[in-house]
Amino acid sequence: MIYLDHAATSWPKQPEVLQAMTDFLQQAGGNPGRSGHRLSVDAGRIVYDAREALAELFNATDPLRVIFTANGTYAVNLGLYGLLRPGDHVVTSGIEHNAVMRPLRGLEAKGVRLTVVPCARDGSIDLKDIERAVHRSTRMVAVTHASNVMGIILPIAEIAEIAHRAGAWMLVDAAQTAGVLPIDVQSMGIDLLAFTGHKGLQGPPGTGGLVIGERVRTEEMQPLVRGGTGSRSEFEIQPEDCPDKFESGTLNGAGIAGLGAGVRWVLKEGIASIRSREMALAQLLMNGLEDIQGITVYGSRNIKDRVSIVSFTVAGHRVSEIGLRLDEEYGIMSRVGLHCAPAAHRTIGSFPEGTVRFAPGVQTKSEEVSEAINAVKEISGH
Ligand code: ALA
Repeated sequence: MIYLDHAATSWPKQPEVLQAMTDFLQQAGGNPGRSGHRLSVDAGRIVYDAREALAELFNATDPLRVIFTANGTYAVNLGLYGLLRPGDHVVTSGIEHNAVMRPLRGLEAKGVRLTVVPCARDGSIDLKDIERAVHRSTRMVAVTHASNVMGIILPIAEIAEIAHRAGAWMLVDAAQTAGVLPIDVQSMGIDLLAFTGHKGLQGPPGTGGLVIGERVRTEEMQPLVRGGTGSRSEFEIQPEDCPDKFESGTLNGAGIAGLGAGVRWVLKEGIASIRSREMALAQLLMNGLEDIQGITVYGSRNIKDRVSIVSFTVAGHRVSEIGLRLDEEYGIMSRVGLHCAPAAHRTIGSFPEGTVRFAPGVQTKSEEVSEAINAVKEISGH
């Protein structure tokens, strides 16, 4: 089997991740921050270690400002619904995943004003268009770091500078970039970094989080859920302390243990090494696909502009047929269709059919990419 769906979730997980999860359940197992006994204390330490590893990876100012959530979508929602109020203005891009677009449309229905800045056909954004969209009443600019459809990387630091000049916060959806691109929340001006645990960070599903920067006063931010935190139990109102304010209910301890191990694996490998391996795979893939007659490959030709995600269509073949044949006849896993990102597909001209998406990961071998290219060539009939 050849797994080319790392943009949906990385697989297989590193042995260290599986081991950390098993160890947590077998040996730690208590409820972190709740009971004072040793199993609870051990669990609390493992959770804190994961916060520290994430803070190190993203250069966050304080591990306690790393909030664990159930996934990246929950983290995006926490940032948006936590801070935006009716009358506020928010700016986003024309290539967003529904994890950003749907909560923004939901807020729009509650009186938040939304500007969607269109992107070029390759997904790139013109900073002048952002400058024109952002004004004094803009409270937030919320954009993806890289598209899950054509892999284009947006210029986050430059967009953040525009946002900050207007006094707005910068929220970044790092679902496709955490663990594969350098992310320094301080130097890039990211006030809210929403990440998922189960893609580039190599953790299990059911993990993710939001890094809250120092420009955000957490007193101003509402939690999505209120409840028990294991702290300040004498009060019936939600505590203000971070991360407890935003982490009611028992945490996914085993998942966070796995995520911590995944992040430490990423730190040990090094982002630069992961990035260069993924770029080589994506380049090989693009070159091979572009050589096939009748194929359209979407997005920028410059590999430096993209993460390891390549979307394509084959003239005369439906994407669902290609996905099925790749799986059934060749054992190749892809993701076809709209990838929960209709805005991105409208931008590149592939709506409503969508594309076939190959997303090699750091574990992928170049021979696997070559086999996938050959399979597409055979299916295309050329
Ligand atoms: N958002 C993930 C993807 O693009 C699941 O496949």
